[in-house]
Amino acid sequence: LKANGAPALQYGWVEGQEPLRKLVAQRLVARGARVQADDVIITNGAQQAISIAVQLVTGAGDSIGVQPASYPAALDLFRARKLALSTLEKGRASYVMPGVGNPDGRALPAKTRAALLSGRRPIIEDDAYGELRFSPTPGPPLLLNEQPARTYHVGTFSKTLCPGLRVGWLVVPPRRRAHALRLKQNDDLQSNSLSQAVLADYLAHNDFDARLVALRRLYRRRAQRLAEAVQKALPGWRFNFPEGGFCLWIEADAAVDETRFLELALAEGVTFDGGSAFHAQPVAHRATHLRLCFSFEDPARFREGVARLARAWRRAQRQTSRKTSRPASRRTKAKRRPRKGAHERRR
Ligand SMILES: Cc1ncc(COP(=O)(O)O)c(C=O)c1O
Repeated sequence: LKANGAPALQYGWVEGQEPLRKLVAQRLVARGARVQADDVIITNGAQQAISIAVQLVTGAGDSIGVQPASYPAALDLFRARKLALSTLEKGRASYVMPGVGNPDGRALPAKTRAALLSGRRPIIEDDAYGELRFSPTPGPPLLLNEQPARTYHVGTFSKTLCPGLRVGWLVVPPRRRAHALRLKQNDDLQSNSLSQAVLADYLAHNDFDARLVALRRLYRRRAQRLAEAVQKALPGWRFNFPEGGFCLWIEADAAVDETRFLELALAEGVTFDGGSAFHAQPVAHRATHLRLCFSFEDPARFREGVARLARAWRRAQRQTSRKTSRPASRRTKAKRRPRKGAHERRR
């Protein structure tokens, strides 16, 4: 408040404060993008950036292509906008997390990426976790670098600093910028001035890249510790080790009732994210998916947490197999028998 005085508490421009836009642009330029401060729109987190982008690239009745497992709040947003969720090959536009996916923590497969880049459709690039790749070598380039005329690039400080300030950004092709700003203005006039001032001040006075190096190391270690604990306690569970981000995306070795499994886990004092929230379409094959986060908890508690989860899992499996092997009761059988005259009445 002392450093920025009135601007931190005053109305500002729709696109956000210039010092912060400059810093965001510099960071994108360092990653190979050809952008300037004037290409950046500061948003209320990545979520608002996705919301504006999707309004720019789709209309009523369109479909949007998404990865088979994707970020639930984006899927909810698309559904709320009455968009049909489709595969990436089919949508009117695509929504992807090319560097680090949520929930799988992995880069977009090379073939999928190449197909997107060689297509003609608009792409929403959600880079929320892109700077949290574990490997010190750079990941795949931003789609923004390769296809700036079709890419709607979304970023955020939520995963690298703190989500509570609600500061993210959006870069759209220059010809769409005026429309993007109108949508932003209609939505909330501008992002929070104080948050923007706090962030600009923080970035100007701290070594953010050094912070990222430390975070990548921290999260990689946590990922390893959680992966080891899961492999030991639940050897039938499968996952690809994440390339970045906050979680393991797991395919368990049996199908159970997800809600019941969650209830049993909660009774043990642990929790997980059920796979159904991440699937764009219901998954037909017989497996349970779940996302386990390692970002927040103390790794010293991982072994105990996973042991409790394993107990809940075994119980859920027992309950599922009892349910599926129990013969139908007389009452249910009677209910299933068509009532006299039902056939005629239906006609
Ligand atoms: C992939 C992805 N995109 C966007 C967001 C939203 O981020 P923000 O807090 O910046 O709105 C999240 C938050 O979980 C996320 O996982």
